[in-house]
Formats: sequence, structure tokens, C-alpha cells
Amino acid sequence: MSRFHNALDFVLSELDRRRESGYGDWRAAAGAIQRHGAARPRGVVPVPAAVAPGPPEPEDAQEESETTPMPKSDDADALSLFGEEPAVAAPKSRTAKTPPATAPGVYEPVTDPALSKDERLALLRVCPQRIPCTECPYGQEPHNHVVFGNGNVDAEIMFIGEAPGADEDAKGEPFVGKAGQLLNKIINVMGYQRADVYVANILKCRPDTPGQAYGNRPPRPDEMQSCRPTLFEQIDIIRPKAIVALGATAMKGLMDDESPMRDLRGRWHDFKGIPVMATYHPSYLLRNQSPAEKRKVWEDMLLVKERLGHAITEKDRGYFLTKG
Ligand code: URA
Repeated sequence: MSRFHNALDFVLSELDRRRESGYGDWRAAAGAIQRHGAARPRGVVPVPAAVAPGPPEPEDAQEESETTPMPKSDDADALSLFGEEPAVAAPKSRTAKTPPATAPGVYEPVTDPALSKDERLALLRVCPQRIPCTECPYGQEPHNHVVFGNGNVDAEIMFIGEAPGADEDAKGEPFVGKAGQLLNKIINVMGYQRADVYVANILKCRPDTPGQAYGNRPPRPDEMQSCRPTLFEQIDIIRPKAIVALGATAMKGLMDDESPMRDLRGRWHDFKGIPVMATYHPSYLLRNQSPAEKRKVWEDMLLVKERLGHAITEKDRGYFLTKG
């Protein structure tokens, strides 16, 4: 077995061990690599020092805020899909610093493109240059998990949300809360299983909510900037045939496009040659449960299916159409 595979096996077994023991996997694994005597995992490409900081970005106008606290609802159906966010201890506030500017799609890879997708993702996941995010002004703050993303590394569709919420932070996986349950339904109605697709977020860590005992908040532009290189490399590794950006914040993080969702959805965008469909975030649908809003998302998903060459039945075409 090559020296690389020894190192990779070590990284993976360390992750499993940490995960099983219920401990946040990333700092420990990265620390263990250092203790193991390697300056960096083999297969990880050295990156140049951070580029000069860019100008601070304006605060994002949240036309459709996605990870904001969910409203209470008495509707039984709605309650089965979403309720109040679980109470979590508010982490201490982070000190904002300006991270290095990164234009959409532009980044220095830290993993060797000659390696397999699994190897590259495993290394990216624990790469000391990216995670625990030594360049990130927020990475050192308390959260339970880095929510890296998961799914089929050969997926034809990659769904990208904005940031982990409390549920995702607790579990270490993206979209496992109420919005995630709805996303799973959308994926199923499209004809896929969740395990067929790849799901990730712009931010890999849950944004802090200082002074707030529960709920989530949308990521700030500087936080998105900081996480971009990891997401961009993830996309380059998976190379899906299509990306679905869930919500306006995801579009801002991915493409630097600040247009409102009504202007973004229903048409194709391009991310380094990969077609991108923007649609409303599942959390938006949880708050706006009218068939008309569901229909908009469904029409976007039909465009994705069509683009990927999948058959669309008459039944498919009829979902959420309002009569009259
Ligand atoms: N909302 C997101 O954007 N991402 C998640 O992982 C969960 C909720």
C-alpha cells in the first residue's frame, strides 16, 4: 500500500473513531494528523499565502431569509414539516475580520486532482489549510461540527444551501432539520433518493447567534467569502451535471449574484461550465405553503430534470397546478 493510502486510511479511521465517540470530528482529526508527524496529509497541495483582503461587502438584503427562526404554526400539516427550532445554547459572538477576497469559482486547490474523488473529499475535509480553516476568522469559534456536505460523489445533481442550522450543527450533516425533510421530499418527487445526490452549503459551520438562545441566522457576506474556496473545490471534485442553488443567499455565495430570487429562478446560470438552477429555499416553502409557491420550485426542478435528459410524465407536469 502506498504511503498516501496509509495516510488516507489513517485520516478516515481517525474521523470514524471521533465520530463514533461523539466528538466533533474535524479539529481532532486535523490535530491527529499533526501529531502523526505529517505537516499536511499526503495528497494535499500547498496553497500560497492569502491574497490581499478585498473591500468589505455590503450587507446582503435578505429578500427570502432562509435560516431565520421558523414562525409558529397551528396548521397540523405544517407542524409535521416544521416547528420551532430546538433550543441551543447561544455561542459567544465572533469578531468580524475581513477574509481574503475570492471571486466566484476562483480558488487554489489544496487536493491533488490526480487522486480519486473520495480521496480528494476526504483530504479536503480534514485539510489543515482549509478545515479547521486556519485562514478563517470564524473557524476557531465554538460550534459542534463542521458540516462539510454529503451524498453521492458521482451525483449528477448537487444541491447547495446557505449554512447549517442548529439541527445540522448537532448532527454534522447538511439539511437534516425541517427544511431538510422538505428537501428530501423534493428530491424524491424528482425521482431520486437523497443518497443519489450531493448536498452541501456555502458555509461549513453554523453562523453564531449571539444573545439568542435558539434559531438560526443567514450567513454574512464575509463569512461566505471565507468558506468559498472549500465549496469551490468540493464542486470541482464532484463535477455534477447540474447545481441547484437553494435560495438567494446560496446564489450570492456561489455566483456573487445579489438579484432577488424572482429574477434568478426559472433560468439557467453558469458556474465554471456547470449549469446552475436557482430556486426558493425549502425554508421559504415551509413559510409559504401555497400551491403557487410550491409550483414555482417544482417548475425549476422540471427544468433540471429536462436538462439532465430525464423523462417527464404528464403527472409530473401537473403537480401543484392550481385549478381554475
Ligand atoms: N438550511 C440550509 O441552508 N442548509 C442546511 O443545511 C439546513 C438548512
